[in-house]
Amino acid sequence: MTPRAVVKGIGHYLPKRIVPNSEFEKTLDTTDEWITSRSGIKQRHFASDGETTSTMAIAAAKAALADAGMMADDLDAIIVATSTADLTFPSAATMIQAGLGMTRGFAFDIQAVCAGFIFALANANAQIVSGQAKRVMVIGAETFSRLMDWSDRSTCVLFGDGAGALILEAGEGNGDKSDRGILALDLNSDGTHRDILYVDGGVSTNSVGHLRMEGKEVFRHAVEKLAQTAHTAMDKVGVTADDVDWIVPHQANIRIIMGTARKMDVPAERVVTTVQDHGNTSAASIPLALSVAKANGQIKKNDLIVTEAIGGGLAWGAVVLRW
Ligand code: UT7
Repeated sequence: MTPRAVVKGIGHYLPKRIVPNSEFEKTLDTTDEWITSRSGIKQRHFASDGETTSTMAIAAAKAALADAGMMADDLDAIIVATSTADLTFPSAATMIQAGLGMTRGFAFDIQAVCAGFIFALANANAQIVSGQAKRVMVIGAETFSRLMDWSDRSTCVLFGDGAGALILEAGEGNGDKSDRGILALDLNSDGTHRDILYVDGGVSTNSVGHLRMEGKEVFRHAVEKLAQTAHTAMDKVGVTADDVDWIVPHQANIRIIMGTARKMDVPAERVVTTVQDHGNTSAASIPLALSVAKANGQIKKNDLIVTEAIGGGLAWGAVVLRW
């Protein structure tokens, strides 16, 4: 038998404050028409003053535990993908662990920006198949509104805040594509492109900084690299486009999402999109999309899902899993 990390529960949290594109028309030289046609985004959620990455993540985590019928102490580990932890340290993950009342196991953060959830899934899968942990909660949570330069119309209209949480549990399969759980993955990064998407500040430069992006350049890399990493992961387990029930992509731009799906020969009806409602929530976008798609009945047990993401680094990757 082949050890597998199998999905047991999912949940999400979005801040109450919804900001439509029209809000930006008041302060910037932009239009709802430009934002919608260039990115697909219609609105995003922004955290209120009291909300942080960990408070949003705790709400998402509680929803995931309820969905799985588990208590916090049933978990062996919490892995959090974020670039916007509340504090420089401790990790958001340990703050979430305390917030959930979890008194055992271990918790830590992973930072791979918009691809963070893919890297966190890969790590959780490794913990489970190696026998280190039986139940792992994987969280993507971000407060990107705190990194925006509100005078830069080319970036501040694109991002949003939120959190999603997925619980994986050790299971067994036959070692082929009919198994439930994580079936294959592919991870990549190329630091020579670190200067096309970055924050111009950080602890060792004594500042917080703002997000900076050469959007066109990132776009150019995105479609090509996402299709390639998805194919690499699919080939590892013998999955073809016909097997794919859902692509659940990182939600940055509808044109990147649909361009990648076309390259993968998967029709638009089999692509989960939340970018119109959430904007780009970085590492939170995939668990948010999975949770919304599960809640609205799109994703069902045994569906074959390909999820892919790219972001700052550049870092990118894909995971093939059966729900
Ligand atoms: O999650 C991490 C990964 N991030 C991404 O995947 C984002 C990748 N990039 C993109 O999504 C797109 O490149 C953008 C949505 C950022 C931009 O779309 P684009 O089609 O690449 O537009 P552009 O950068 O070529 O800009 C076209 C024009 C420019 O004006 P000029 O130079 O042609 O006169 C911009 O100054 O649009 C202008 N522009 C805007 N106009 C109105 C840029 N931002 C805005 C705005 N409103 N908000």
